[in-house]
Amino acid sequence: MDSLDDPEVARLTQMLSGALVTQAVATAAALGLGDALADEAGSSAEVAERCGADPEGVHRLLGALATLGIVERLNADFFCLTDLGQLLRSDHPRSLRSWAVVQGQLMAPLLAGLLPAVTTGGSAAPGVFGCSFYEHLAVNPELDAHWNRAMAETALSWFEDDDLLGGVDWPNVSRVVDVGAGLGATLAVLLRRCPHLGGVVYDLANVVGGAPAFLESAGVGERVEVVGGSFFDSVPQGGDVYLLVRVLFNWPDDDALAILKACRRAMTHGARLLVIDHVLGEEAGSDAARLNDLNLLVMGGRARTLAGWNGLVDDAGLKLVGHPGYSSLGRPWAALVLEVR
Ligand SMILES: C[S@@+](CC[C@H](N)C(=O)[O-])C[C@H]1O[C@@H](n2cnc3c(N)ncnc32)[C@H](O)[C@@H]1O
Repeated sequence: MDSLDDPEVARLTQMLSGALVTQAVATAAALGLGDALADEAGSSAEVAERCGADPEGVHRLLGALATLGIVERLNADFFCLTDLGQLLRSDHPRSLRSWAVVQGQLMAPLLAGLLPAVTTGGSAAPGVFGCSFYEHLAVNPELDAHWNRAMAETALSWFEDDDLLGGVDWPNVSRVVDVGAGLGATLAVLLRRCPHLGGVVYDLANVVGGAPAFLESAGVGERVEVVGGSFFDSVPQGGDVYLLVRVLFNWPDDDALAILKACRRAMTHGARLLVIDHVLGEEAGSDAARLNDLNLLVMGGRARTLAGWNGLVDDAGLKLVGHPGYSSLGRPWAALVLEVR
């Protein structure tokens, strides 16, 4: 058998083209190709002009994107967006444009540090960026804006229809503090579901600058207070419920413990902390969580088992209330509801 007819050779070869596929889609996203083709199809020269790019380069990129189903080749040099490609438009309600940019320009370079991270342990960020992951974002405003939009895009896309937020008796809650909220997309999902709720978006000062406009566009701006600060210093008081959504897995145990303790200090008895994160186990979504654990490894964080969570929660003076609920849609997320011990 010719080696290329061997299904395992073909499968591994395909796996190894992952970086090429990521960069093709991420480059289209960074160029704004989805917006350039949003209203009318175009030749590669027209698309290049709309994007401010090189016609020959754009021609070759469009050829590759056609094989991936992002654009359709209408004739030798005339292209339109497919339904898949529509997701790269900035204005699509399920846009993944910033998520794509982040995969190509932030996570791909960081993942090139996976070998040293696996060999020596610890985050790849100092070796690749010369500083920590979030310090790198703080000094790269354009990438930071894409990261914050990517978090908002995926929070809207992943949490809107899921019941991960269902583990709290929301009618008896009035104020929710979203810690490490990004632009506040998860809080916006919650506030749209529960019109009686108000809340606080709390994140680093360089992040929350974009929150008022985002929350306004999500229709909840008037019900949210935006506060800048670091959860290693303090967390705003006065919440009936605190949220930590996709935050703790970014950090090693000692930092995750410090964040939980800061929340614990802000919480009164009776307040609850809803954590949405990976919980490694046998449940649906666990395979995706294990693969994403490599993203977390290079960032300096980790996915945790329920036993790992229990240890952290206990050390922080909190207790896990009941069992975690997993994503109702088979996604790699679980909800943990914590109370003050
Ligand atoms: C993976 S994002 C999740 C954002 C949001 N919770 C969501 O799920 O869409 C982690 C968030 O933690 C924030 N963060 C990082 N370091 C922080 C710090 N020291 N204090 C407050 N927030 C921080 C980041 O800016 C980022 O918005």
